[in-house]
Amino acid sequence: MSRLRHKRILLGVTAGIAAYKVPHLVRLFVKAGAEVRVVMTPDAAQFVTPQTLSVLSKNPVLSTFFSQERQWNNHVELGEWADVMVVAPLTANTLAKMSGGMCDNLLLATWLSARCKTLVAPAMDLEMYQHPTVKANLEKIKDWGVVVLPAGVGELASGLNGEGRMAEPEAIFASVEQYFADNQPFFGTRVLVNAGPTFEAIDPVRFIGNRSTGKMGIAIANAFSAAGAEVTLVLGPTHLRPVSEVNIIPVETAEEMNLKMLSAYPAANIVVCSAAVADYRPVTIEAHKIKKKAQDIAIQLTPNADILKTLGQLKTTQYLVGFALETEQLLENAQHKLTSKNADLIIANEAGEKGTGFGFDTNQVYFVAPGNKITKFELKDKNEVAKDLLQYILEIRARKK
Ligand SMILES: Cc1cc2nc3c(=O)[nH]c(=O)nc-3n(C[C@H](O)[C@H](O)[C@H](O)COP(=O)(O)O)c2cc1C
Repeated sequence: MSRLRHKRILLGVTAGIAAYKVPHLVRLFVKAGAEVRVVMTPDAAQFVTPQTLSVLSKNPVLSTFFSQERQWNNHVELGEWADVMVVAPLTANTLAKMSGGMCDNLLLATWLSARCKTLVAPAMDLEMYQHPTVKANLEKIKDWGVVVLPAGVGELASGLNGEGRMAEPEAIFASVEQYFADNQPFFGTRVLVNAGPTFEAIDPVRFIGNRSTGKMGIAIANAFSAAGAEVTLVLGPTHLRPVSEVNIIPVETAEEMNLKMLSAYPAANIVVCSAAVADYRPVTIEAHKIKKKAQDIAIQLTPNADILKTLGQLKTTQYLVGFALETEQLLENAQHKLTSKNADLIIANEAGEKGTGFGFDTNQVYFVAPGNKITKFELKDKNEVAKDLLQYILEIRARKK
């Protein structure tokens, strides 16, 4: 399987003669399973047609802030969408604008908004590429973390011979692959996560639920996906969705969540149970809405399956992570959970503490592992907590090797 499968590549095209090679580059990316979106400078269309790039990328090609229908081509969204941005060819002009922070076209605005890594393939004529301003500008963007794919030596469009040819599409493709290889330590790993609350129906309009939003589990799914894993997320009822490529299995009840987890479990290498699964469900679901009456009513509850415990019993080679949300005796309860559920790690956090638990963007957790190993983490963004988990598992893997 290609490392570029499902990766989101934002390809910036500028007005250099080497733009005629870009359709081939787009084909290489698309063939490898990547999703490609192209942004061109207005002048670039003189060197390669947007129509060709649109057909090959299977996406509209953008080059202006507003479409013909006067709709805003949202550069911020585009920049956030991308896993990597590649600018090929990169002209001296666009390079100068990048190094000067200019923003007078959609490509530049998108680059300034993008959070992802950028790789650029400069292409210029001999003297241009040697010019001190070009050299200085390339150094400047390198210092900011942009990867510069050096121009090659050979015959140039002007007829001169020397340095200035854009790196070949195959070499650009290989560099992008290498970038993902260096940043995808979980490539080839299958990760199963559950997240969110469960809703247990009382009647056709009412249910027993909880305040979980799924934020923590979704952050974990995002982090694993960004690190190259194939992620399945069994997601209870929440309006939140992952931003990365994740296979979502929506469920509503604890029973549904249990069944979906069980069927995905044998194929998984790492399993993270972060969902706030209801411990009980009503014995009967009323066929019609319960009418308001003056007297008390009782709803009889029956226990749901214990998903983490079941997975612990069925465990073969999976690395099993559970969450413990407690209101008292946090660490004692987490340690007990670790052994009673046969888990490999419990992430414990206290409900009711400021900034931790349901709904918050932040969490303060302890990692509780066998052998009384307890690691305390500071209060931090849930995305950062997710990264701590990945780092922790990577360290365990490294030790095993
Ligand atoms: C035939 C032709 C070929 C060009 N090739 C290059 C080139 O390879 N590299 C470059 O930096 N500029 C090249 N230019 C100049 C750019 O097209 C020009 O600077 C343009 O304004 C760049 O616009 P952009 O950076 O917004 O895409 C070429 C111009 C012409 C007319």
